[in-house]
Amino acid sequence: MKITVLPGDGIGVEVTREAVKVLSAVGPAFGITIETESHLIGGAAIREKGSPLPEETRAACSASDAVLLGAVGAPEYDHLLPENRPEIGLLQLRQLLGGFANLRPAKAFPALIDSSPLRREIFDGTDMLIVRELLGGLYFGQPRAIGADEAYNTMRYSVTEVDRVARVAFESARVRGKKVTSVDKANVLETSRLWRETVNKVAKDYPDIELEHLFVDACAMHLVTAPTRFDVILTENLFGDILSDEAAVLTGSLGMLASATIGGAIDLYEPVHGSAPDIAGRDIANPLGAIASVAMLLRHTAKSDEAARCIESAIDRVLVEGHRTADLTTDKAAATGTGAIGDLVTRYAVELARERSSANAA
Ligand code: IPM
Ligand code: MN
Repeated sequence: MKITVLPGDGIGVEVTREAVKVLSAVGPAFGITIETESHLIGGAAIREKGSPLPEETRAACSASDAVLLGAVGAPEYDHLLPENRPEIGLLQLRQLLGGFANLRPAKAFPALIDSSPLRREIFDGTDMLIVRELLGGLYFGQPRAIGADEAYNTMRYSVTEVDRVARVAFESARVRGKKVTSVDKANVLETSRLWRETVNKVAKDYPDIELEHLFVDACAMHLVTAPTRFDVILTENLFGDILSDEAAVLTGSLGMLASATIGGAIDLYEPVHGSAPDIAGRDIANPLGAIASVAMLLRHTAKSDEAARCIESAIDRVLVEGHRTADLTTDKAAATGTGAIGDLVTRYAVELARERSSANAA
């Protein structure tokens, strides 16, 4: 497999290094050769090439089997308009690759239950998948503009856009807890009326899946009062952005969560967290979200559920053994570094892969 790696800005560089380490070791153990090539995106690309998504990065991504991204965003560009910021590189990349369904799983890691801001009895057993529509809504709607006294963005959705992402949610629910919670603001927004009507139509093709609708404000509340009630959450772009940060941090740290963007020409994998410039370059960032993203890559793009599970089990083992990056412990002096966590996951995942292949041979 040809993987284009886009480390991007801040801790993106460190966490993708660890993710590539794990992927390059585990892939071959399952007969998947991994060829990686790094390119610039975001602030790093603006600095060197004058553009947040340079032509050579576009070309490399278009010619690969999957793209692994770290994070984009840097404080030196904070004063710029959205159209000139590093983030636009990521938005253009998403459009280029065409994936419209962003899968963000959030579950309680047993070893981290006490790192959750929620009480154990509320959070224990939480296991949800947020399916965020990624190419529509306010992020891309036209017209958009800023003037001296006013600015506007357009929220727009078509039936086709809602239909296709809703199907991903229902299909996902089929292999999980068989429930979809569609989140909208249908008491106020026309786009949400269309969203709800379309989801109801799609649901007719999935009689085995339970469907409920929630307004986004209620969903935000239920996420912290009763997170175990969710299986698959289906929602539009901006609501999904907000709710996935909320869901992620419930697991103990935003650094834990992975994402996959599917449905387009080329799949895109990225941790849910940002570039965290305040902690960049210090070997303290949590690489597990990026590492879990390559597990998703092996599952969705390389179609090796076994390889994905080796990485996920290795992550569990690292946590059960008590290794913690600084974001997961109050005892900062005892924290394990980014690189050391990557080494441990690699070692355990490869061990598991070997055990499997010798079990298969026996
Ligand atoms: C995310 C990020 C991005 C988004 C930013 C960096 C453009 O917050 O992936 O959740 O808003 O989609
Ligand atoms: Mn976000």
